[in-house]
Amino acid sequence: MRVLVTAGPTREPLDPVRFLGNRSSGRMGYSIARALLARGHEVILVSGPTALKPPKAATFEQVETARQMLAACRKHWKACDAIFGVAAVADYRPAKFSKRKLKRNPNEDRCIELLPNPDILATLARSKGRRVALGFALESGAGKKEALRKLKDKNLDWIALNGPEAQGAEVASLRLLGADGTECVLGPASKAVLSRALVRAAIG
Ligand code: CTP
Repeated sequence: MRVLVTAGPTREPLDPVRFLGNRSSGRMGYSIARALLARGHEVILVSGPTALKPPKAATFEQVETARQMLAACRKHWKACDAIFGVAAVADYRPAKFSKRKLKRNPNEDRCIELLPNPDILATLARSKGRRVALGFALESGAGKKEALRKLKDKNLDWIALNGPEAQGAEVASLRLLGADGTECVLGPASKAVLSRALVRAAIG
């Protein structure tokens, strides 16, 4: 199969030197890309900024913002058989970008107006037909209900549920929920082992 993988954080610029971002390292997405390649799949990896080296065998596209990520994914999606949405996409972006560096004014509070970003996975999965779509749900607290809501709302085949403790962890586990009602727990294991198990379970 040819699989589109999104990975890493997105960065939403405020001015030439500042951005809104998040703590995603990209390790899970890159690890899944490697696991897919090891199973003989073709991989297109669309990634936000990370400190990681992309696997040589993958087609790699580096992006910065959510909108750039969507544009890059749209370009490849037509020719893909599956999408694994692993990126931690910023849900909002600053409404205004200042071409000049914002100056400090200690006497003034400052508000940043935010606009919603597109949902990349939901946008692509909407028109997926028989293609496979897998997403992640990072939930704190009662996660299963919320994960199942995302599975349905985003028209996914699979959703991998994990908690905030998975961020940056060496060993992690996740609960894989299928649109057909199947459910299994993968791990605890290293992200490499976990990724291989996830790929096998979702697309073989
Ligand atoms: N996702 C995406 N584009 C977005 C937001 C999320 O492609 N703008 C994808 C993520 O890659 C992940 C899945 O959707 O596979 C769920 O992401 P998550 O952040 O858990 O869900 P949200 O829909 O953003 O909901 P919330 O942050 O309110 O929990």
